[in-house]
Formats: sequence, C-alpha cells, structure tokens
Amino acid sequence: MVERIIIDTDPGHDDAFAILLALASPELEVLGLTTVAGNVTLEDVSFNARRIVELAGRPGLGVYPGCDRPLLRPAAHAFDVHGSMGLNGYDWDAPQIPPSETHALDWMLETLAAAEDGSITFAVLGPQTNIALLLRRAPDLAVRKVKRIVAMGGAYFQGGNYSPGAEFNILVDPEAAAIVFGAGIELVAIPIDCTNLALTPAGWIRDLAAFGTKVGDACAGMMEFFEKSGNALYGTATRPLHDAVAMAWVLWPELFAGRLCNVEIETGSELSLGSTVVDWRGRTQRPKNCLWITECDAPVMYARMLERLATLPV
Ligand code: RIB
Ligand code: CA
Repeated sequence: MVERIIIDTDPGHDDAFAILLALASPELEVLGLTTVAGNVTLEDVSFNARRIVELAGRPGLGVYPGCDRPLLRPAAHAFDVHGSMGLNGYDWDAPQIPPSETHALDWMLETLAAAEDGSITFAVLGPQTNIALLLRRAPDLAVRKVKRIVAMGGAYFQGGNYSPGAEFNILVDPEAAAIVFGAGIELVAIPIDCTNLALTPAGWIRDLAAFGTKVGDACAGMMEFFEKSGNALYGTATRPLHDAVAMAWVLWPELFAGRLCNVEIETGSELSLGSTVVDWRGRTQRPKNCLWITECDAPVMYARMLERLATLPV
C-alpha cells in the first residue's frame, strides 16, 4: 500500500536527507513539498527545497512556499547549525524550476479536498506554522482527509536543543504546535529524545562519497558541514539527521518504540516556552494525543537509508 505524503519542511541539512530518502522510497508517493520559515528564511528554504527535488531527479515535483514567520512571534533561524543559505557544504546549482505561485495553504486545501478520506500523511519537519493554519482554516477537512501527522519535534527526556527546555521546531512556533497537538488527528512525534540517540555511523561521509554520484557528493558535503557545526555546538563526533529519522519512522516504524501519552505545549512561560510536557507515566487524565517515540534501531535505519540514497537520482 503506497503511503501518500505531503512533506512540510525548512531545508536544512537533515530535511534534505529526509526529502531524498522519501523520493528514493517506492513505498511513498510524495504529493508535494510545502515550505516554512525555520532553519533559514522562507525564500531560502524554498530555494533549497527546489534544489533538492532537482538533485533527486524530480524537477516537476511541486514546492509550495508557506508562512514566512510564526503565527505570533518573529521568525527565528538556525544559521549556526545550517549555515547562511541553509544547505552549506556543497556547491549547489541554482534551481532550474521557478518558484510556485501557489501558496502552501491553498495547495494543501485543494490536495486534501481531492483526496480519499484518511489517505494523506503529513511529514512535518520544521516549525508547525503551515499545519496550524491549515487546521484553523479547514478543521473538518483536515480531520477527515489526514491519516496521521508525523512530526519531528519536541524534547522531554533529553532536554532542549535550542533552549534548555525546548527543541527548535516547537520553540520557533509554540502556538502552532499547540494547535497541532490539540487537533485530535493521529500524531506521531519523533523528538530529540529519539533522534539524539540516532547518530550517523562513523564513516557515513565516506560511504556517501563512495556513491560517485552528484547525490553522494552533495550528501557527503552536507554531512561534513553539519557534523562540523554540530560538533562545535553539541560536542558529538557525528550528528543525528533528525528529520531523516522522522521520515524513517514513516517507512519503517518497526525499527522504533515509544508510548502513547498526553503531550502539551508550554506557550505561556518565558523560561520554558516551547517545552513539550510529556505525561509519560500517565499522572493526569489528559487525553493521550501523541505517540511519543523514544527509541530506534539506528544502525539498521542508517544502513537502509544509505541503500535508498544510493538509488538516486530516480
Ligand atoms: O531540532 C531539530 C529540528 O530543527 C530539525 O527539523 C532541523 O531541521 C530544525 O528544523
Ligand atoms: Ca527541519
């Protein structure tokens, strides 16, 4: 059964690996990409998304720009992690495809309207602004047509990566995350509780470069940059490809483990803004609104990912 997915993304190195993995996987039908301001500006994440789909050999795949800032707060970026243009480390060609004139929200609405009930999976790899707007604009349509939301985001056992208590995607737009987590749509969260433990294997860059393809060269260059910036910030020799881990859940959920529990988003406190409060031990009567993933078989996952990436361009 082919999984029909929409990828909402802010590329970003790990987003790039997630998108390439999705496009290399016959189990997935990628309907399109929607972009959101996050790692870098909306213009640059959209530019980068087009570069990535072209690199994968899918120049015709739609890339639809969404929100250029969070619902209520100023835009925040992660230039320190992803570099000034968001995919530093490789000498990218300028994309050939012009930017789409259709806004992400309009494209998502028309795509959902045309879809079978319960048939669309959202892979949400950045701040959740676009998804929150969709849920406010057409809640009944979303509940009827969306099969599940798989979101890279959140931190509980690991602590935050962008503030002491919060992970980047949630912290940038906590009000949007509160809307998504409260929507009553099946939600799977792949937090840094899981991804921080899924470091890329030693020698991963060498294996990518050994492809001898543009995809291999781009992935090796991106990984080298991502490891250097990550090492300076977090001190780990290799790096977790957070968003690619989330995409791996869509493909191979059997490699993961977690718990269905209540997760709420802190939107009021300056000190712990954007924290994901996980009722892991069931201490409250709050609804269990999220499958919170904490474990994955990283060696098997990255071995499968490497095999898939080697098949590109399609
Ligand atoms: O905290 C990691 C997340 O924030 C990833 O999605 C990364 O791309 C950034 O968006
Ligand atoms: Ca991302």
